[in-house]
This record gives sequence, C-alpha cells and structure tokens, in this order.
Amino acid sequence: MDYSAALDQAIDKLHEEGRYRTFIDIERRNGAFPRAIWTRPDGSQSEITVWCGNDYLGMGQHPVVLSAMHEALDATGAGSGGTRNISGTTVYHKKLEAELADLHGKEAALVFSSAYIANDATLSTLRKLFPGLIIYSDALNHASMIEGIKRFDGAKRIFRHNDVAHLRELLAADDPDAPKLIAFESIYSMDGDFGPIEAICDLADEFNALTYLDEVHAVGMYGPRGGGVAERDGLAHRIDMFNGTLGKAFGVFGGYIAASAKMVDAIRSYAPGFIFTTSLPPAVAAGAAASIALLKTAEGQELRDKQQLYARILKMRLRGLGMPIMDHGSHIVPVHVGHPVHCKALSDMLLADFGIYVQPINFPTVPRGTERLRFTPSPVHTTGEIDALVRAMDALWSQCKLNRSSNVA
Ligand SMILES: Cc1ncc(COP(=O)(O)O)c(C=O)c1O
Repeated sequence: MDYSAALDQAIDKLHEEGRYRTFIDIERRNGAFPRAIWTRPDGSQSEITVWCGNDYLGMGQHPVVLSAMHEALDATGAGSGGTRNISGTTVYHKKLEAELADLHGKEAALVFSSAYIANDATLSTLRKLFPGLIIYSDALNHASMIEGIKRFDGAKRIFRHNDVAHLRELLAADDPDAPKLIAFESIYSMDGDFGPIEAICDLADEFNALTYLDEVHAVGMYGPRGGGVAERDGLAHRIDMFNGTLGKAFGVFGGYIAASAKMVDAIRSYAPGFIFTTSLPPAVAAGAAASIALLKTAEGQELRDKQQLYARILKMRLRGLGMPIMDHGSHIVPVHVGHPVHCKALSDMLLADFGIYVQPINFPTVPRGTERLRFTPSPVHTTGEIDALVRAMDALWSQCKLNRSSNVA
C-alpha cells in the first residue's frame, strides 16, 4: 500500500468538503479572560476576544482555583506518578470525589482523565456488571457515549432525539425482565436544547431501567449549587449515574461519574479506562475541587445569573437583527449558517477583521446543512464586547448577503 497517498486522499477529502480543521493558536491571558493573544501562521500576533470557549464562567482564571492549584503544586510536585491503584491516589483525589458526590447528592464519585473517557469507559464496562443489559441511547448523544456504547458488547437501541414516545416503544418491545439503561444528556451542546429528564425518569421507573445522564454542559451552570439541570429540576435523586466534566464550567480538566457507592465501586474495579491510566495531577484535582466548592456558594450563583443574563441579551440582540439563532433557553447561543464554506468564511472574517474568535461548527460535529457559529457568553465578557460582536455579525451578515428574519428552533 502507498501509505502516503492514502493519507493525502483522506486529508484531501476533508478539504474538498470544506471541513478540514485548522488549529487557531491562542494564548489566554490569565486575569483578562476572555481576552487572548492570537498568533497567526506567519508569527504575527494580536489581541482577540474568545467567544467559543467552554470555560463558561471564567473559572479557569479564578484566584481561588489558581491558589488551590499553586498550593498543591508546591506541596506535591507535578504529576501523580501512578494509576489510582498504584500510588496515584492522593488526598486531593479523595477530596475532589467527595466534593462531586456531594454536588450530585450521590454516595460516591469517580474521577477519570476526562468526561470523554468517563463516558467511554463506564458505558463500555456495564455489560460485565449487568449480563444481558440493553442500552437505549438518544440519537444525538455525544461521541464519547456513542463510542462507549459501540464498544459495549450488548444490545443497543437508538431513540430519536428527545422522543420519549419512541423510547417507550423501544422499551416496550424488549423482554420486560432484561436489564436496561437509558443514556442521555441534560443539555445537547451544539443546539443548546434540554433533554426531557423527568419524562425519561418516569419511563425508567415504569420499565425498571437505570438512568445515565451526561451533564457535561450543565454542571456548574444550573441548579442552586451548580449540580446541573437535574438539580435545578429536583430530579437528581432519580438519576442512577451522572457524568460530568471538570474542564468546562469548572475551568480545569478531567471528568467523572457520580452514583451509588456500589456502582462506583464496581466501575472502579472493572473499567480498564479507569484502572490502567495515570491519575490526574494533584494540582488539577485541587483546582477542580476548589472550583466546584466555590460554584456551590452565593458567588457561584451570581456568576450563573450573570452568564444567563448575557446569553439572553446576546440572543435578543442577534434576533433583533434577524439572525437565525437556535434558542432553547439555555446558556449557549448557536447561529445557524447552513453551509460549511460560509461558516468557515464568517469565522475567518470575524477573527481577521474584528478580533473575534468563534470556531465554525461543521460536520461531523453537527449534521451537514446545519453548520453554525456557536457563541458562549460568559460573566467575564463585558457589555462592550457583546456590542462589538453584534456589530461585527451585523456587518458580515450584510456583506455576505445572508438571510435574515428566520429563527431556527
Ligand atoms: C456531551 C459531552 N459529553 C462529554 C464530553 C467530553 O468532555 P471532556 O472534554 O471532559 O472530555 C463533551 C465534550 O465536549 C460533551 O460535549
């Protein structure tokens, strides 16, 4: 085989479809988020505003988080030096897991290298624990759940996105005695829509199924203590297993599950993606624990309130200009473009001409024809920066002769 030609072919295909990804080289400025320095391919630099980060609340620069990280770094050094089972469990990991269990009102939590790994490792391991298990998965679940479910060596059913009637049909068609698990998300981050948590919990009760809820985009962001949408809606006790990240609203890095002590003990003991990998650096665990603790307080609520306010303002202003925004009432502001080349061109012009960085979201992250710009306002943006963004979008929409006046639900 001509390996080099095969690689050319694979990469050319992406170029032809307008979905070849390029890294934008940015350096966020501690204390000045969302400002960052952009280094162009020719080495020249300029200051930009980041509008597509998932550090939704700016916790990545919060002094309490940074000081917890500095303290742990000075106390223990850089890495953990081992897997959790072999010398890699520290007081920082234990504290972080206790903080997470408390956040979700569960007996226990288990930290992984990322939420991606937590989803993949947990879902793919369940067959070992529940022989004959059938997994019911929302059609728009994140790639990490899909990968875990693909590797899960058991029966799988895909229900249409948020379609509770379809889920019921699938559950009803299976053996009533078979063990079952429903895997879904509380916020689907590309559209910003919410999963029907209560209705799915009702079905789970009716069909004796377990519930597995990915709250990656909701933890820190919703609920009086940042426990996510299930906490906000008083439903946390009805969820058997939560999945969350430490890398988005908590501003650090890592992922986790939270569940009963027995469930966590079993996953801890059977999941290769947990067992055979180095644990998080203690400083990372310390920063994440500090961030979670802070977001449980009144200060956390203020940050959440301000973020929600800015999201509403941005949506209102873009809608006022007739931009096709996708508004489901969450903290995410996607603007529908519908073409990969236009989407990339808009993103390039925003960056080069206005110093505004928003990454184009193209296939396979979203279906073809639904390409979009996905804005993530935060409490560390200013009203002046919102204003600059709205003006830039208005100018480019006119320059590119794009449609106005339709809202995409
Ligand atoms: C729904 C969902 N689950 C899981 C993940 C993975 O999170 P992490 O970045 O911690 O791996 C993501 C990442 O964007 C996500 O959107």
